[in-house]
Amino acid sequence: MILLTGGTGFLGGAFYLDAVRNGNGADYMLLVRGADEAACRARLATNLNRHSDRETADAAARLCQILPGDLQSLATSTDPRLDQVTKIVHIAADTSFDSRQSVWEINVDGTLALAGRARKMKHLQRFLHIGTAFCCGEAPHMQMVKEAPAASHTAPHIAEYTRSKAATEHALAAAFQDLPIVVARPSIVVGHTKLGVRPSASIFWYYRLIDRTGLLPCTPDGFIDIIPVDWATARLHDLLNKPDLKHKLYHVSAGEGARTTWTEFEKGFAAHGHEGQRPYTRFDHKGPEGWKPFDAAFRAAFPERTLLNRTMAVGARKYHRFIAQDIAFDNSRLLAEGFAPPPRFIDYLGTCLASSDATIGEQFVDDASSFEFDEALMAAPVAA
Ligand SMILES: NC(=O)c1ccc[n+]([C@@H]2O[C@H](COP(=O)([O-])OP(=O)(O)OC[C@H]3O[C@@H](n4cnc5c(N)ncnc54)[C@H](OP(=O)(O)O)[C@@H]3O)[C@@H](O)[C@H]2O)c1
Repeated sequence: MILLTGGTGFLGGAFYLDAVRNGNGADYMLLVRGADEAACRARLATNLNRHSDRETADAAARLCQILPGDLQSLATSTDPRLDQVTKIVHIAADTSFDSRQSVWEINVDGTLALAGRARKMKHLQRFLHIGTAFCCGEAPHMQMVKEAPAASHTAPHIAEYTRSKAATEHALAAAFQDLPIVVARPSIVVGHTKLGVRPSASIFWYYRLIDRTGLLPCTPDGFIDIIPVDWATARLHDLLNKPDLKHKLYHVSAGEGARTTWTEFEKGFAAHGHEGQRPYTRFDHKGPEGWKPFDAAFRAAFPERTLLNRTMAVGARKYHRFIAQDIAFDNSRLLAEGFAPPPRFIDYLGTCLASSDATIGEQFVDDASSFEFDEALMAAPVAA
């Protein structure tokens, strides 16, 4: 029995459908939040339908076992099926970029509850914990980040989310050395090589926004580390299934070979006829003008002062801070295991663009809940 958390999310849904396609969906038990098993299966089917047709999604949602509940409930769960678990794939997290107490309660306390219950699983062979490559903290102008212990939670972090993910890794290492934990840290997961952004437009709206505004928060000679969800989840299956892994920590990332330079990025959007502002220019949010160049470009591209646009500006600023670090994540450990290398973003950008005729703002809705701000902040002018 394989216990999967996060099956109603972007990566977790793709991961579970891989298992169904590989013929072992029935070996899975999914932890799903919901009032009862029927409600959980319905929520799962709705998510799987973003990655597949209705019939496939419904069949897949019927195939697995369901453990209704949340991560925190696992600490006290007496469900006997948990004693049969041989592998855990822990994908669930609060991925909100807004500063919230729940990122600590879910990402740290929830993971520790799962680990505490895992300790009682007599047959456990692997606990695959999904972290994030950005647990390295805010580190300006690094080039290629190698796998290393996460930055301290007291180090600078752009989002409380990455701080909580760093703290989770430290807590697991400190208290659960006896568990067979392998940590996989994806970089930036965007779209699907065949389905484009149909499963989720998460973060894709932001890349379109860069092209639309023509403004980069970093040097045009730099690069970005983007991977598609189908490649990412296939590598998570590899990390789950290979018995003799050489390490306990892996970046799941584009790395040196498949990172995207901004020059390629700009050419790619132009080649696919995206409505953009080119050539791109650079602004430095830490420079004397601060965010003013961005605010002006944003207002020109999105003149309507709607709540959605204001929230999108807040979201774009946050992502700009991540991008301004100008970093990618070394994946040589992953490739040395013999796993398939990643495709480049540019190779499936056309599929992403063709898969949806939604506007940038409409696509932002997939991430809008990550940027919930109180009404007072929403009412404030976008320009700082
Ligand atoms: N997307 C990326 O670019 C990216 C990059 C690096 C790392 N990651 C990591 O990959 C993982 C998945 O990310 P994602 O983008 O797929 O996130 P997502 O779409 O927001 O999905 C999050 C999942 O976690 C579940 N969840 C949240 N709180 C829970 C709780 N208390 N108990 C049980 N389940 C809970 C959600 O369930 P509900 O449906 O009930 O809310 C959902 O299934 C996360 O660990 C994230 O840190 C993602």
